[in-house]
Amino acid sequence: MSATASPPAIFAEWIAALEARHLADLRVREVTRAVRALSLAYVEQRGSGVRGALDSAGKRAAFALFYAPLHFLTAHHIVRAVGAATPPPRTIVDLGCGTGAAGAGWALAAGGTPAVNGIDRHPWAIAEANWTYRQLGLRGRARAGDIARLPPLVAGTAVVAAFVLNELPVPARERLQARLLDAAARGVRILIIEPIARRLSPWWDDAALDVEAAGGRADEWRIAVDLPPPLDLLDKASGLDHRELTARSLYCSSRFG
Ligand SMILES: C[S@@+](CC[C@H](N)C(=O)[O-])C[C@H]1O[C@@H](n2cnc3c(N)ncnc32)[C@H](O)[C@@H]1O
Repeated sequence: MSATASPPAIFAEWIAALEARHLADLRVREVTRAVRALSLAYVEQRGSGVRGALDSAGKRAAFALFYAPLHFLTAHHIVRAVGAATPPPRTIVDLGCGTGAAGAGWALAAGGTPAVNGIDRHPWAIAEANWTYRQLGLRGRARAGDIARLPPLVAGTAVVAAFVLNELPVPARERLQARLLDAAARGVRILIIEPIARRLSPWWDDAALDVEAAGGRADEWRIAVDLPPPLDLLDKASGLDHRELTARSLYCSSRFG
């Protein structure tokens, strides 16, 4: 589906704060190099590459300043397009929250009222997600945890897993997917977002069939974006082209609100 992103007004403030935070001690050239390195790590999906994705200050800055806002724009757009913004969920659980982008995107698309519970295994990501929630004026808290062990989910909760399922070992991912489908049947809204490249997630078509059989939907997205200046600069300097964001999603709505 093609459309144009329309981020909330506070997005520009967040980008300005991210720029001040992450370019204070690093040069654009260092972050650009790290954007390229992360792009390779994620595109090639080599186990060690992905595991090392946050192992240097440059890569952490590249993730927080460049990739996380792209993930925010993607999640914010998808949530609105699939009708997941209304009614606002009481709580959004963000699995593998990274710096908090996807859960924050859902919460802001839903008017900013939902509480966001981020879960990640990386201490830097957890601290950064808590900073993101504060910057975006959200009631959010990120904590350490392994998403392979899903916390109990009550009806009325929403769960997002953005750009993370591919990082799990196959048995853990399959168990998590089964538990998410089970939660969807009990009134929990579930949103899974992954890159569009099919070879990165060979499991996608089977998962889409399961979600559709459960009354959910599978979509592919092409979202035109006007990148704000610091992102546009990093995009061009890294030899990338994110004038259009692409992603795939699986969404199970809830009959229970
Ligand atoms: C590619 S990042 C995506 C972050 C975020 N969802 C976003 O859209 O920007 C993947 C994140 O998942 C986390 N992660 C990977 N496996 C995990 C696990 N088993 N438990 C908790 N977090 C995990 C990583 O630490 C990383 O922050």
